[in-house]
Amino acid sequence: MTVRANTVLLFGATGDLAQRMLLPSLAALHADGLVARDIRIVGTARSGLDDAGYRDFAAAALAKFLPADRQDKAALEAFLGRLSYQPLDATDPAGFAALAAKVGAFEGAVATFLSTAPSLFEPTIAGLGAHGLACGQCRIGLEKPLGSDLASSRAINDAVASVFPESRTFRIDHYLGKETVQNLLALRFGNILFEPLWNAQHIEHVQITVAETVGLEGRVGFYDGAGALRDMVQNHMLQLLALVAMEPPARFDATAIRDEKVKVLRSLRPLTAADSVTGQYVAGAVDGAAVPGYAEELGKPSDTETFVALKAHVDNWRWKGVPFFLRTGKRLPQRRTEIVIQFRAVPHSIFAERGAVAKPNRLIIGIQPDENVGLTVMAKVPGLDREGLRLREVQLDITTPNAFAGARRRIAYERLLLDLIEGDPTLFVRRDEVEAQWSWVDAIRRGWASEGLTPRSYTAGSWGPSAAIGLAERANVSWHD
Ligand code: BG6
Repeated sequence: MTVRANTVLLFGATGDLAQRMLLPSLAALHADGLVARDIRIVGTARSGLDDAGYRDFAAAALAKFLPADRQDKAALEAFLGRLSYQPLDATDPAGFAALAAKVGAFEGAVATFLSTAPSLFEPTIAGLGAHGLACGQCRIGLEKPLGSDLASSRAINDAVASVFPESRTFRIDHYLGKETVQNLLALRFGNILFEPLWNAQHIEHVQITVAETVGLEGRVGFYDGAGALRDMVQNHMLQLLALVAMEPPARFDATAIRDEKVKVLRSLRPLTAADSVTGQYVAGAVDGAAVPGYAEELGKPSDTETFVALKAHVDNWRWKGVPFFLRTGKRLPQRRTEIVIQFRAVPHSIFAERGAVAKPNRLIIGIQPDENVGLTVMAKVPGLDREGLRLREVQLDITTPNAFAGARRRIAYERLLLDLIEGDPTLFVRRDEVEAQWSWVDAIRRGWASEGLTPRSYTAGSWGPSAAIGLAERANVSWHD
């Protein structure tokens, strides 16, 4: 029986994620009575704050990042009253005794959340283990990046495993906390319509796009060492791919769902450099505003890719021969995450001799910013057809946000922090998944290195290098723009 945590220990408590996501999410959960009213939230970071200083810091973050309809004074005060703070240099083992004293005696469980540089994971885990903060039902949430390749990810996972069993290790991929991503499971497995068609016999290709308009956003040190492949494909995009491609799990539980996802990840065919295109933005304009190029933002030339497009394959019976096109990039024309399932053309068109074309159906799953599911179907253009029969593609909106008008839209971290506090690992990434993801990505990077592949330039505000269009066109595919 899993015990609800009554203490949350937040590492990286003064960081950007804590301000923008973690503190607002915890405040919302607290205001809604979804976590215990007397929950204790102990923040820790290097900054030499005391409890009152941290409450002021959190109040400023909440004023800025909590939505206007959540700015309830009494609720905020009640939440701030639950916060305390202990300064800590995680590389100094001696500091953990004071942290443990701050956490004090607890009944049940501590949910610890690490949102720090990955280099601090190992000393932090060791400190938690040595001071009784890993015992019993205590669990650990780990924010990405979980390493920079398979070897470093394994080292982190080994260090974690020496203190926390896998069942109490919660690896975050915040895409799994998004309502629309979870809706993929509802769409696929809550409807009879799609599953009979969800295979190579009926699906021609799949496209997954995660387009961003933002650039470096001040994350100079981190991003330049990572690049789009490791920052976005290794985690978020492969999780989306796994949810699209997985077999129906037998139950809605953490083991069944993650077992199916990992099978997909292990079935990914090693990708050749010819099936990838990388790019880096140069100065251009996004949303009508001029923006500098990546190297200018960075302040030096760099070979880091800010765009990547891949043609992947899942080598199993269901997906034999179906390409999965993935692309992601910074400084693209729009912020848009979507999945497009392109079905095959009808096997025999009775309209061809009348000069009309029956285009293949497409299922378009919008994840953000717009949440919607559209299905394109062919319809007859009304008329007497004296000049020939005309068919036109129309899009049916099969789910829209209006269907759930009034439902509170929660951010991904509300869901994930609540699941961490309650101990439900279904929406977290298991070790074997993360390692399968890294091993596929590492092989791509080795291929790029051996081919001497460097990113092509693309103008900020465009859809990436033209070679990305060529990658799709060689398979008779055009990106859904
Ligand atoms: C993060 C990446 O994991 O996801 C960022 O490090 C990226 O580079 C972000 O901007 C995108 O998340 P979302 O939720 O805005 O799509």
